Amino acid sequence: MKTTLATAIALASAACLAADIKLPEPNRAGGKPLNEALAARQTHRDFSPAPLTDQELSDLLWAANGFNRPEQKKRTAPTAVNRQEVDLYVCRADGAYLWDAASNVLKQVTTKDLRGSTGRMGSPENFALVAPIALVYVIDYERQGMQQRPQDAFKYASVDCGFIGQNVYLHCASTGLHTVFLGMINPQELSKGLGLPATRVPLFAQTVGHAK
Ligand SMILES: Cc1cc2nc3c(=O)[nH]c(=O)nc-3n(C[C@H](O)[C@H](O)[C@H](O)COP(=O)(O)O)c2cc1C
Repeated sequence: MKTTLATAIALASAACLAADIKLPEPNRAGGKPLNEALAARQTHRDFSPAPLTDQELSDLLWAANGFNRPEQKKRTAPTAVNRQEVDLYVCRADGAYLWDAASNVLKQVTTKDLRGSTGRMGSPENFALVAPIALVYVIDYERQGMQQRPQDAFKYASVDCGFIGQNVYLHCASTGLHTVFLGMINPQELSKGLGLPATRVPLFAQTVGHAK
């Protein structure tokens, strides 16, 4: 019996690469009431370098775009035609990870620190290099499937990122974290660093961390 359990645990861990991170169950309750979070929502650019715990990261990602109705495979943020075309990458000093929302696993895609490709790029005062997390919003235009009308594809991709960004703003306001949504990104550097094919495009980023 002991051997069977040990084997099952070994197989389960082998399914997760060593550098992948299985996040704990997110908290789906607590935090400030909505109106208090709305009253507190704001952009901050002053960050502490203190890392987020795995629990804080799990809570943040679930609020951002987690499955709130898993039986219907639907999420905390709406998407046009329910295409769910936005992938969240978590960039940290130790590398970048694709968040798999269904398994709540961060899948490492590089050990490079890509945070400097967001924020005030090239500036020694780039807040994105101080904060522990840069979320990068990547559009999968194939999954979105609106290639025939590029203007619609871009419109819906942008607004879908905006909903996720506001979820992040409200979660941060509710839990006391600091955040800033960023159009200021280097998409070429991020695409290369994340190893993205031409059909997947980084559109926005969002810096998250503790208050300075
Ligand atoms: C689409 C969008 C792009 C933004 N891009 C940047 C950016 O590149 N750099 C930055 O410092 N702030 C950026 N911001 C944050 C805005 O500057 C900020 O929301 C605005 O000053 C209003 O402040 P508030 O969020 O505290 O209300 C962006 C916000 C939005 C909605």
